[in-house]
Amino acid sequence: MTTTFDEMSSAQRSIERDWVPNRFEPRDTWLPIAHGRDIDAFASRRQVYSAPCFLWRAKGKLHASRRHPDVPAHRRGSARSEREDSWTGDYPVLERYGYVWVWRGDPNRADASLVPDVPYLPFDAALPAYMQGTVRFDCCAPLLIENLLDLTHADFLHAGVLGDAHSDEDRIDVQYTSETVTMIRHCKNKSVAPIMRWFGGVQAKYQDVRAVIHVHVRSAVALAYGRYTPGIDLKLFHPCVPESRDRCRLNFTLDARSAPFPLRYLMPITPYIVGPQDNVMVGPQNSRYARPDPRRDLFSRFDGAGARYRFLLQQIARRQDAGDFAYAPDARPDRDVRALLGMTE
Ligand SMILES: [Fe+2]
Repeated sequence: MTTTFDEMSSAQRSIERDWVPNRFEPRDTWLPIAHGRDIDAFASRRQVYSAPCFLWRAKGKLHASRRHPDVPAHRRGSARSEREDSWTGDYPVLERYGYVWVWRGDPNRADASLVPDVPYLPFDAALPAYMQGTVRFDCCAPLLIENLLDLTHADFLHAGVLGDAHSDEDRIDVQYTSETVTMIRHCKNKSVAPIMRWFGGVQAKYQDVRAVIHVHVRSAVALAYGRYTPGIDLKLFHPCVPESRDRCRLNFTLDARSAPFPLRYLMPITPYIVGPQDNVMVGPQNSRYARPDPRRDLFSRFDGAGARYRFLLQQIARRQDAGDFAYAPDARPDRDVRALLGMTE
């Protein structure tokens, strides 16, 4: 489906005015909370929605639990947190695409087919360690998703790495299901991304760009796929791990296998340059929602992808408040997204 803001109802618009990004904590979803290579026999403490989650391996098996494995069972956990969140004890856990995915929700509904499809990563292995990394943000996960869903911000905030706003044509298309938002941007003769000129052997001054951000709303997972002609494909897996109401953690994998040397080694460094630039914007924004100001953000109604994201998150919250945790048939997370990302063109 394709939409514009004008097609949305007035009820939907009021949702956007009242928007507070960190109020809702979605359930029945797989969260890729750690790189698989970071988890070994020693319990590693992670945080999801302000609750601890310990990860470790024992006898070749992966474990995820609210409790540290060395703490006796009768002393584990706190009554308060268990009452507020039924996500207690041991969690369903699996490993895929080089990540440890933990199920947040009713364990009886944990189903491996609900893991989002990431077609450019190996299903059962991790890419080399230099293509993976972690960046921390001073904002909740939905703010980082919103930031990412507006691909045009890169022309201003990240121009030094990804190229400025010049292009002969710039077309935005927004597609969605009941659980996903996809922003597709087509640019003709856009200023070449400096990183490709410096290290990728691209001599041209301009390049055509087809950039896609595909967001799984419930899990705060984003797939970024950019095709640069001339140039290379930029493939980034971008999960925004919701650590708390004002922190999130990006455990990225940047697939640079098709890039020439030395770009293959330099490209995975870009999240460490680009991430802090984003944090300058989203960090102060996050704290603004805690203040009683009537207008907490400068939301633009022309931001179709952002508006759709807010709407879908609110719809999922309403369904879950009413006890409905199912994924609608239009939005199976394991749906093949290769064509949507532009991988098959
Ligand atoms: Fe950014």
